[in-house]
Amino acid sequence: MKKLIAGNWKMNGTVQEARDLALGVVDAVDEAGGVLEKCELLLCPPFIHISVVQEIVSPSGNILLGAQDCAKEENGAYTGDVSAEMLKDAGCFYVILGHSERRSYHFETSLLVSEKAKKAHQAGLTTIICVGETEDDRATGIEKEIVLSQLEESLPSSASVENIVIAYEPVWAIGTGKTATPEDVGAMHNFIREKLSGHFDHGEKIRILYGGSMKPDNAGALLAVPHVDGGLIGGASLDVNSFMGIASAA
Ligand code: PGA
Repeated sequence: MKKLIAGNWKMNGTVQEARDLALGVVDAVDEAGGVLEKCELLLCPPFIHISVVQEIVSPSGNILLGAQDCAKEENGAYTGDVSAEMLKDAGCFYVILGHSERRSYHFETSLLVSEKAKKAHQAGLTTIICVGETEDDRATGIEKEIVLSQLEESLPSSASVENIVIAYEPVWAIGTGKTATPEDVGAMHNFIREKLSGHFDHGEKIRILYGGSMKPDNAGALLAVPHVDGGLIGGASLDVNSFMGIASAA
């Protein structure tokens, strides 16, 4: 299976910066020739930049577009929300759900994540469902329990081998420069794989991404770990060279 290298731009950038970054990635892919043989690239800009990025990536057709969240409702009087249908219509293929920043700053529960995922699946989007333990969870040795409960509660009955990707992102490694060791990542990805295989026929086909301070200099080691099928990249996705450096390590 090809690795999936996904850039989560979070709440960054002006229209011009989004345009430049997307153009930079498109050009780098053309120049790097061959990088897409090893991996698929996905860009997840803020909602307001989705259309701008879509216009840039769609002519080449080889860079995927996604969003960072969606509403649990289909449409209607939900001020400030964006529906999965709207994302699909705007050219998205993927949506990130349950990112730890949404779980902590917006108090999103796994139940809410599963409701959002259901709507996303109905709209034809693939959901990147994020799970991951805090530093305290790991210190007390309950990281697997936490990840398992997030997995079990965040996946709706509409989840299938075709429409989900799991992103394991230890909360303490996000944006901190601390990265989980390849051994820790391997143990958790193996655990997640076992659970997915127990739950789905062909669960081995579901991609499991690692996220948390992935950079060009640690990407090779992390992406070589069994059951690490790609990366969800925050900070390093805002720089073309770093993002492409990770892609070429895949
Ligand atoms: P980071 O973010 O690469 O900046 O640690 C990863 C993420 O939050 O998806």
